Amino acid sequence: MALLRSHSALLWFLIVVTGHVTEAAERARRRMKLTEDEVWGSRYDHATSVGSWGKFPGAGPEPGDLAAAFKVPTLDGEFSYQPGAPGGSLVLHAFTNNSAFLECLWSSESSLTSLVQGLPDGSQVLFMSLDDSSVSDVLWMREQLLRAAMHSKKEVLSRLHFCPLPVFTLGNWIPAVFYYWGCNGHNCGISQARFTSQGWHMPIVIKRLDARFDWLMARWASKSYPLADAGDGCRASSSVEGAVAWVSEGSCSYFTKVQSMARSNASGVLVYSLDGNAIQDMNCAGDECSSPLGIPAAMVHHEASVAQALRFGQQVFVSFQTTPSPNFFIGVDHQGALAEMGWFLYPTFSFINWQAQWFDFSADLQTKLQTPAEVVCVFDRIQMQGKIGAVATVDLPQGVLDFDTLELDVSLSCPGRRDSSCAQWDHTVQLFVCCDRLSPHCNMELGRWITAFRRGIGHWLTDVSPLIPLLDTDKCTFTMKTVAWAMPWIVSLNLRFGLSNQTDYSTEKLRPFRVTTLYSGGTFDKNYNKKYQPVKFPIPASSEKVELYAVITGHGSDENGCGEFCVTSHHFLINAVHNNSHIFDSAGTALGCAMRVKEGAVPNEHGTWLYGRGGWCDGLQVNPWRIDITHQLNMSWLESNTVVYFGLFDGQDPNPAQKPGYIIMSSFLIFYK
Ligand SMILES: *[C@@H]1O[C@H](CO)[C@@H](O)[C@H](O)[C@H]1NC(C)=O
Ligand SMILES: *[C@@H]1O[C@H](CO)[C@@H](O)[C@H](O)[C@H]1NC(C)=O
Ligand SMILES: *[C@@H]1O[C@H](CO)[C@@H](O)[C@H](O)[C@H]1NC(C)=O
Ligand SMILES: *[C@@H]1O[C@H](CO)[C@@H](O)[C@H](O)[C@H]1NC(C)=O
Ligand SMILES: *[C@@H]1O[C@H](CO)[C@@H](O)[C@H](O)[C@H]1NC(C)=O
Repeated sequence: MALLRSHSALLWFLIVVTGHVTEAAERARRRMKLTEDEVWGSRYDHATSVGSWGKFPGAGPEPGDLAAAFKVPTLDGEFSYQPGAPGGSLVLHAFTNNSAFLECLWSSESSLTSLVQGLPDGSQVLFMSLDDSSVSDVLWMREQLLRAAMHSKKEVLSRLHFCPLPVFTLGNWIPAVFYYWGCNGHNCGISQARFTSQGWHMPIVIKRLDARFDWLMARWASKSYPLADAGDGCRASSSVEGAVAWVSEGSCSYFTKVQSMARSNASGVLVYSLDGNAIQDMNCAGDECSSPLGIPAAMVHHEASVAQALRFGQQVFVSFQTTPSPNFFIGVDHQGALAEMGWFLYPTFSFINWQAQWFDFSADLQTKLQTPAEVVCVFDRIQMQGKIGAVATVDLPQGVLDFDTLELDVSLSCPGRRDSSCAQWDHTVQLFVCCDRLSPHCNMELGRWITAFRRGIGHWLTDVSPLIPLLDTDKCTFTMKTVAWAMPWIVSLNLRFGLSNQTDYSTEKLRPFRVTTLYSGGTFDKNYNKKYQPVKFPIPASSEKVELYAVITGHGSDENGCGEFCVTSHHFLINAVHNNSHIFDSAGTALGCAMRVKEGAVPNEHGTWLYGRGGWCDGLQVNPWRIDITHQLNMSWLESNTVVYFGLFDGQDPNPAQKPGYIIMSSFLIFYK
């Protein structure tokens, strides 16, 4: 529950409920839509061209390679891994107390609790340390988890293993992968503050943890700043102008410290912990989060020589650096394949849980793909890029209308084997189909997905059975594309035709036989609803069931965050009385999309993937909204049933003051017999 206290949920609640908008909302939205590169710089840009990821061929195992068997001693005996042995996923974590991020991950109660309470059943974690202090490290780590597990079920403890040997002594593939999969950001790399002063022979370098990524957007410049003592930093001080303020923790919130130092024209804030307290994840809370703060901040341990130099009036300078390190996390999926763990946006074990949930989802998907179906391969690892996207013309099985299910088996991976080769932004991907150039159905949308922020593991199975009638000849052209300027994705698409219940001969299953196109979306402004007029539609003879089918997503950002981060509602009014409503009520919530990892949303993306969005999540298919409207219609009345659509924000016509967002919509009536 602790995670739900997160500022963003509160903030968005305030915005949505009170209509307090404009600047605060705009800032909040900017905070919510960030990629990792905005923090760490576009270090990938050189590495992303196809091919350069494999600069050291053969230097070590890559994601997707099988993990070999291994055995390591643990505090309780031995941990032994056998490939192919039935079981869940395995996560390996290498700790080092040189990392303030890891210190915080292991000290925060909410982080520890999330692991003992939220690790999916069947998942195991092997903990170890990168350093000579490995024995005391893992004893301490076990202690932390035992304490956190005091009030929860103990079963999870049997799935947590602690290896007291340092990683560099293991002599198997584990050190190779940890060291070879080095990265930047939170999952590896050591962020530090470096102090210098005239009286010292050597610099003092200590670990630091920058304030929460999506709270403070300002970043440290690569330069040396003067350092100035500002007490507890709770009140403005004239002595910190142009300097990094050195302030103690406590007495007021992190927000108040950073705000009063920003008002004092400080260039940044270093908060030091007192009395050996652990480094914490500095974040805002509640409406603090809507006040702009233009300076960076980080937390460090108290450093006596720095404090003393400042007390004696000696000039101290501070600069900020990140030292490369081995990776801290490796995954092994149910099939025994090595996997990257993605990016941990802030220090909590929830990111291990989310990746493990995804391993479970993925294993389940593999099982589903084993069930019999008539499979048509459309794209087999085809590059999708530019205006054209990916295009293929394929023959369909005969008698397509005899099938009652059609699923799209889609995966989006990257040019290289590492996530670092993936496109960094989330974009809409659409699949269009045309089977007869003269048909009104030519180039209708068959499926929609949103790309993940720089992760290449997305794989989804989407049921689009009602759209089978769009396949109106036996040779069809499929086009899948995203915005033309996006970096390339590698797509695979299989169509899976099937019969949903071959064992049930008693009731003949209804099959979709006709599709009528309804409305599409558009700019979400005050004229949005004006273009929608009621349509009268005939019901084809022998129809036994009528369904409404719509794929709707909100994008862009006006001053209310619409349509990506605002709660919009979509209504199809049948015969002027039946109001069928679809509300995107998780849009803007702090964990709206994190909660959908179990459905296949790609976890631990390199950006703010966790927030709920308008009808979609990063790294997920867009689920069609389907409603059986048979009973809302007069089935014997051939001419005059009517339907009209409208989309609302806050129960009213949208009316943004600036930069209106937009809605992408395909909608159909589906007739079954
Ligand atoms: C980690 O480092 C901090 C500061 O250097 C220290 O206070 C703490 O005791 C260390 N923790 C462990 C487990 O070594
Ligand atoms: C900060 O800078 C502004 C603009 O230069 C100035 O007006 C203000 O007095 C300064 N504040 C403090 C506390 O020094
Ligand atoms: C298939 O039909 C059987 C018998 O009517 C029924 O018990 C079962 O739930 C059906 N399965 C599905 C997936 O619809
Ligand atoms: C359907 O429409 C017909 C023709 O207008 C009318 O006679 C009939 O009562 C209607 N049925 C229902 C259920 O409304
Ligand atoms: C349909 O329902 C929405 C709320 O769910 C309401 O705002 C709207 O006015 C309703 N429209 C009609 C025509 O009943």
